[in-house]
Amino acid sequence: MKTKHIKDKDFDLFITDDQIKESIDKLVKQINTDYAGKRPLFICVLNGAFMFASDLIKKLDFFPEISFVKVSSYSGLQTTGSVKKLIGLNEDIKGRDIILIEDIIDSGLTMKYLLSELKDREPSSIRLATLLFKPGSFQAKYAIDYIGFEIPNEFVVGYGMDYDGYGRNLPDIYHLKS
Ligand code: IMP
Ligand code: MG
Repeated sequence: MKTKHIKDKDFDLFITDDQIKESIDKLVKQINTDYAGKRPLFICVLNGAFMFASDLIKKLDFFPEISFVKVSSYSGLQTTGSVKKLIGLNEDIKGRDIILIEDIIDSGLTMKYLLSELKDREPSSIRLATLLFKPGSFQAKYAIDYIGFEIPNEFVVGYGMDYDGYGRNLPDIYHLKS
């Protein structure tokens, strides 16, 4: 289906599951090479990255460790906006090689927060993998090591990503109808 009505908006097909698979194959090739002989810890950022993480790790030709975290945003008492909190990281990551898996990097602020939290725990390396990246909206300075697709600054849904709780289960990625 080329167009979908999701909750109260119309979305057009943007990236098909075949294109996603092809892109993941390329990323996995790189990761297999970069981590040959190592045992990195993959940290999947919930909720959005669960499908990407699942498809990616299935294709690795080594045995990684896998963990899941969540970054909750809630409004602080201050007027300065949202306060973030890292939930779910129980592993000792000191001296480990970490690969963070995200669905999409938009402003980059979520990852910036996560990176600073993880660096405090002294891993030996941290790399970032994201399926989607919006360069036009990115406000941070760190490098993103593995990028599936660079996309324009527009809202997307599907393949783990939601619009107000809807659409995470779609195998393809859709964008707002223009
Ligand atoms: P950032 O902190 O602005 O980089 O936003 C990162 C998070 O916002 C992602 O992990 C997503 O959960 C969510 N997000 C950003 N853009 C989109 C989008 O287009 N569709 C769905 N979720 C998005
Ligand atoms: Mg996310």
